[in-house]
Amino acid sequence: MFNAQTYRTRRRDLMHSVTDGVILLLGNDEVGMNYAANVYHFRQDSSFLYYIGIDQPGLNALLDCESGEVTLFGNELTMEDIVWTGALPSLKETAARVGIDNTRPKNDLDAAVKDVHRARRTLHYLPPYRAANQIKIQNWSGLKPAEQKENASLRLIKAVIGQRSHKSNAEIEEMVKAVNTTRDMHHAVMRHAKPGMKEAELAALAQSIAVAAEGQTAYPVIMTTKGQILHSHDHSNTLREGQLVLGDYGAETKNHYAGDITRTFPVSKKFTQQQREIYEIVLKAENDCIAACRSGVAYRDIHSRAAQIMGEGLKDLGLMKGDIAEAVAAGATALFFPHGLGHHIGMDVHDMEDLGEDYVGYSEHIKRSELFGTAYLRLGRELEAGFVLTVEPGIYFIPELIDQWQAEGKFKDFIDYEKLAPYRDFSGIRIEDNVLITDNGHRILGDPIAKTVAEVEALRAEAF
Ligand code: GLY
Ligand code: MN
Repeated sequence: MFNAQTYRTRRRDLMHSVTDGVILLLGNDEVGMNYAANVYHFRQDSSFLYYIGIDQPGLNALLDCESGEVTLFGNELTMEDIVWTGALPSLKETAARVGIDNTRPKNDLDAAVKDVHRARRTLHYLPPYRAANQIKIQNWSGLKPAEQKENASLRLIKAVIGQRSHKSNAEIEEMVKAVNTTRDMHHAVMRHAKPGMKEAELAALAQSIAVAAEGQTAYPVIMTTKGQILHSHDHSNTLREGQLVLGDYGAETKNHYAGDITRTFPVSKKFTQQQREIYEIVLKAENDCIAACRSGVAYRDIHSRAAQIMGEGLKDLGLMKGDIAEAVAAGATALFFPHGLGHHIGMDVHDMEDLGEDYVGYSEHIKRSELFGTAYLRLGRELEAGFVLTVEPGIYFIPELIDQWQAEGKFKDFIDYEKLAPYRDFSGIRIEDNVLITDNGHRILGDPIAKTVAEVEALRAEAF
């Protein structure tokens, strides 16, 4: 939790941007896993955390843009709650810590929302992504969940994105903590992994470090010898000599800021020559793209730069041919790089994705491409100081995709399918860091994480 003034200022600026009507901020409730009382790990809504700062279930807030009044709706703990879960400061005390004077019982929210409607004032809400909040909105508005996204307040969405996209110094400190814990996770895994282990053992090790730092993982751990599967959450494979492990995971701090780092390392002590060649291409793309990150540059262009660099590297190996700029423009490099170069990161690993990826990552001038691969780019717009984003190029050999394109004769002027045969079981390599856009350029967040071939192999040597 930041200080009360931080939240007061954020709310004041939000009400000022939205100008009129009443803003409804819905907090998250507990959700039953297999029965109501056996709940998933509680995660507060990130926008609620940003403006209200209270990390507890069962809370909602109304912000009156005209009067400036802020009301927090929630219940004080009963003696039964205290018996089972322990005493907490009263809701009034907690609200005061985040600069809110008015609290009302949870059930008063229905009547308060009706008052807004009766007064013919606009109720601004964000697109709800949890069923419990969708049901609340349905009860108040009659809109079915599928109709709610398009009826959410665009003015509110844009105002929230405008604020949350620019990280304050206090937020950046939290993000550095997230990356440094993530660094500890990656280094521990690289020092520990050996042939014969299960991916699950490494995933457990990474997760234990995030939990020991009083946080969680920011998203399900990817720890896989099948790195060509972009988001594989299966951890059932056994590590074998000659394979690669792709680890994409990050810590979420106690205050809910995320790290999102990917490293790829050999199961053996050293990379094979074939692995090293591909690794160096991805690393060059990552370093070069990070160097290109600065305010005013469109991230879409940095994404294309990654495709260009990796296409040229693959051409040097004989896997691609022809004019690489043309191959990038046509979408041929997406055979090897079928995802976007990166995304905003903050309290959410894909920051604010619930508010709409195109509002967060695109602008009036820069619209999302429809080309396979580039269409997955979550951030295409011009960068601004205060943005924090991921840079995560990768090269993958996806046998199913190669077979389909080869059978169709797709991009055969750019891709040498014969030369691809020895790479069929290669898997994939991705390298990812978290980067802050500054007034003069950029800064990679956190302490350096082993990344060059020599640095990775030095940590791998410690495992044997
Ligand atoms: N770390 C997972 C992703 O960026 O999608
Ligand atoms: Mn990422």
